[in-house]
Amino acid sequence: MRVLVTGGAGYVGSHTVYALLEAGHQVWVLDNLSRGHAEAIPSNLLTVGDIHDVPLVVELLRRHRIEAILHFAAFALVGESVQHPERYYENNLRGGLALLQAMLQADVRKMVFSSTCAVYGVPTHSPISENAPTNPINPYGRSKLAFEWALADLAHSGQIGYAALRYFNAAGARPDGTLGEDHDPETHLIPLVLQTALGLRPYVEIFGTDYNTPDGTCIRDYVHVDDLANAHVRALERLHVGQAIVCNLGIGRGYSVREVIAACQEVTGRRFVVREAARRAGDPPRLVAEPTYALQVLGWQPRYRDIANIVETAWRWHRSHPQGFRSQ
Ligand code: UFG
Repeated sequence: MRVLVTGGAGYVGSHTVYALLEAGHQVWVLDNLSRGHAEAIPSNLLTVGDIHDVPLVVELLRRHRIEAILHFAAFALVGESVQHPERYYENNLRGGLALLQAMLQADVRKMVFSSTCAVYGVPTHSPISENAPTNPINPYGRSKLAFEWALADLAHSGQIGYAALRYFNAAGARPDGTLGEDHDPETHLIPLVLQTALGLRPYVEIFGTDYNTPDGTCIRDYVHVDDLANAHVRALERLHVGQAIVCNLGIGRGYSVREVIAACQEVTGRRFVVREAARRAGDPPRLVAEPTYALQVLGWQPRYRDIANIVETAWRWHRSHPQGFRSQ
């Protein structure tokens, strides 16, 4: 298929660009590079521009006869979303609505949307199925859920088909070490631990050791970025107009912060300082996906199921790119 990937220079977006190319699709990327990296993707695919720019998007969609959009362009920092909710509604919601407007004008009728488990907030049950109530506790999660509602209404009206893929904790890197995670600021656990192992940070902090979990630290479902990319390709290939697919993407098993740090110590073979610190505001104790619907609707199963294997791929990237894409 001929597809446009918004935010294709970002972390999950760029891995998906390669998965799409490998599956034989024709890919164009729109990214304003506010958070993404031009180095992450082949330069001939990239148009530097913004999803808010409806005339530009319509022109791209028409010129390349695009059949579907994979929409990743968004801000994704929970803490920042609490400080600056306006940025999140502007970019994630209004930007998304502008993209929908352009899509309808250009008669493109399919979208695969990068959503998040943050739409569930603090779940009452674990693992979390797609039927769990959505009750996001921060502007990031609310901005993503609000856009899901717009997609659902457009699908219901028969104008589009969409898949909203709610990822749990995206982690890891392309196994050949050429592509990986590079956020500024970095807030995610695995890259922070690996940067500490490299000596780029003096210590790593465990945010909260008094949770009601076996070792007192938060539990998350870490899913490999290439597995996420593969799920996007599957969603694209299965989707038809009028359809609404809402699907969790996780491995269905959780690891605690202490277990992740132990895996990083084992994989890197390095010793580093670990400090116990206060809880981080807004962190639910346990977020684990019930992954069976993804198998049913997308035929998707994660290939990476062990945290050490995920960390190994991330370590290859961080070791060869200690400054991220600036190391190239
Ligand atoms: N953590 C630490 N120390 C750190 C960084 C993180 O202990 O230095 C802990 C966090 O408290 C959390 C776990 O490690 O318990 C994972 O934290 P991340 O920041 O890596 O990931 P989150 O679970 O906070 O965030 C992920 C996605 C978000 C999404 C959120 C939903 O990255 O996009 O899940 O809650 F919104």
